[in-house]
Amino acid sequence: MELPFAESWRIKMVEPIHKSTRRERERWIKQAHYNVFQLPASQVYIDCLTDSGTGAMSDRQWAMLMMGDESYAGARSFFRMKDTIERITGFKYVIPTHQGRAAENVLFSALVKPGMIVPGNSHFDTTKGHIESRKAVACDCTIDEARDTQLEHPFKGNVDLGKLEAVLRDKGDLVPFIIVTITNNTAGGQPVSMENLKGVRALADKYGKRVIFDSARFAENAYFIKVREKGYEKKTIKEIVKEMFSLADAMTMSAKKDAIVNMGGFIATRHEDWYEAAKVYCIPYEGYLTYGGMNGRDMEALAVGLEENTEFDNLETRIKQVEYLAARLDEFGIPYQRPAGGHAIFLDAGKILTNVPKEEFPAQTLTVELYLEAGIRGCEIGYILADRDPVTRENRFGGLDLLRLAIPRRTYTNNHMDVIAVALKNIYDRRNKIKRGYKIVWEAELMRHFTVKLAKA
Ligand code: F0G
Repeated sequence: MELPFAESWRIKMVEPIHKSTRRERERWIKQAHYNVFQLPASQVYIDCLTDSGTGAMSDRQWAMLMMGDESYAGARSFFRMKDTIERITGFKYVIPTHQGRAAENVLFSALVKPGMIVPGNSHFDTTKGHIESRKAVACDCTIDEARDTQLEHPFKGNVDLGKLEAVLRDKGDLVPFIIVTITNNTAGGQPVSMENLKGVRALADKYGKRVIFDSARFAENAYFIKVREKGYEKKTIKEIVKEMFSLADAMTMSAKKDAIVNMGGFIATRHEDWYEAAKVYCIPYEGYLTYGGMNGRDMEALAVGLEENTEFDNLETRIKQVEYLAARLDEFGIPYQRPAGGHAIFLDAGKILTNVPKEEFPAQTLTVELYLEAGIRGCEIGYILADRDPVTRENRFGGLDLLRLAIPRRTYTNNHMDVIAVALKNIYDRRNKIKRGYKIVWEAELMRHFTVKLAKA
């Protein structure tokens, strides 16, 4: 008999979490104005709000915290981190930042000017924010297949090379660089193939442009290339990662994901001119060049995290857990963005709560239902997150309306996945009885989802 799959680690330290009653949750979610961001974490049983900064560090990462060199300039910890980044990615110039969006802020301050166009696959919210706040345009060239949640495609995060070339051909003068997000979070944690990355590189070379990888989940992307793309089966994750980054000029990194630290990020590049240009902004925004926004000890943990999480076993354990949850949902027939992504399951609320009108926010309704059912916190990636059209001030109902369940790394067991799956099944079984959603009673002008106040419609 073939041995079953199991985790590539064992547990050395645990953190208690608390169950609650439905009655308590009804009170709490009302106090939070039906917005899960407003819930104290102590009122959550299983927290799938994000996989960012919520992973469990390894014993080696914790051990290295003691080795942190907190010198203001030239800390040993910086050089250890820089050497690791260079060895793994091939990028020689490294600027530490406190998280991913800070890396975007520093680098884009040097590169993005009003009127520019930044094409790529789906830009993450903060990436888009840092482009738009500089009065430039983020142009999403993701393949159309990504919009059909029920379509199986091994690399749904890919860039549509035809769309990209049209932008480069027609408006190339306005393009400062191309940005590819690996994996494509917005499209459902979907990977980008090596072939596609090569295609982007070829277009960039043809039009004389540079390429940045938004690399928050680059290791998960490499795992998918290994298991799904022909010719990569026998390569190690580190070999694949090296090849991926050989196709880019620079990266921005939120280390809170694939480097499995609670806080941290960086910019890395092979080009001295970009390094020199970004340096100028690092010092006032983040800090001196050898710590940016980070502690010495956190740079040590980051280096170890990068090293460990570019190993196959660690990634396999992680992604198989997400696939395990997906398989349980398949058992119950619950629709989500297929195939399962690297870091999360994105439930298709429009296909589940079919009786809730879009004006009453089906994905948000599902988010609240799941919290009420079992104290599980997910996050709406749908019509509330989409904000209003800046000109007409109408809600934007054009995109997908999803509930994201992000799975923190090395944090929960498959028993927790079972609780999530069964809670969703219970909701799915009574989905036809759910007819009303929520209405907005107060909202901020931008990024309203964090603070929006809702009431029952
Ligand atoms: N890029 C991607 C693809 C991301 O997913 C994120 C963060 C960032 C950049 C920004 O990094 O949070 O360190 O400043 N994503 C988190 C999420 C917040 O929940 O998906 P950050």
